[in-house]
Amino acid sequence: MPLLSSMSTDNDTALPKLVVLISGSGSNLQSIINAVKAGGIKARIAAVISNRPDAYGLQRAADAGIHAEVLDHTGFDSRAAFDQALQQRIDSFNPGLVVLAGFMRILTPAFVRHYQGRMLNIHPSLLPLYKGIHTHRRVLEDGGNEHGVSVHFVTPELDGGPVVMQAKIPVLPSDTEEALAKRVQVQEHIIYPHVVKWFVEGRLKLEDGKALLDGAVMNRPAMHIAE
Ligand code: GAR
Repeated sequence: MPLLSSMSTDNDTALPKLVVLISGSGSNLQSIINAVKAGGIKARIAAVISNRPDAYGLQRAADAGIHAEVLDHTGFDSRAAFDQALQQRIDSFNPGLVVLAGFMRILTPAFVRHYQGRMLNIHPSLLPLYKGIHTHRRVLEDGGNEHGVSVHFVTPELDGGPVVMQAKIPVLPSDTEEALAKRVQVQEHIIYPHVVKWFVEGRLKLEDGKALLDGAVMNRPAMHIAE
């Protein structure tokens, strides 16, 4: 499958470049690092950027020999000023895809527009259900019997962009917030590398606000069947 012609490549390796944004543990970052290392995702992670200096994902990046840096949002007067600085840092790596992997920031419309069609996010719910935070807790409070995770293109509407892939799991009577989060994360680590691979291979695009896979509009998200 040819690489996306619009996907900028690394001069040395001719591989498409990714920038991954994190705020915390970075387990999704790890799943992408692993898929790149295993050759499943034919790309180079050019940089990992965290808005929190204590994010464990920074260590994961260092362990994998990936350039990592902190842009601490607390040092900025406004959301717009932080997003502008972040955009400058990201663009200095000239990535073809920006991967939000547990990046816990609401993004300004200008920032989102700049990366429209080349920025993905993972959200721990079956979107459009449970946008926002504390998704596992809210599912349990509502007595829901199923839950899951979505990977979607980022658009200015919070957690509202076209969903590309989901994985669904049952909510068990014994589930706590932590137990549910853990089981959802197992699915996260499967579906995020899968979607990134599609994008890098040029199979996945955003056109007129819709996700296209292999040139066809995705009328519903691809569903990963959890085992
Ligand atoms: C993941 O569960 C991800 O779905 C969630 O943050 C966690 C980050 O974990 N993202 C959001 O809630 C975005 N709204 P990680 O740092 O171990 O990848």
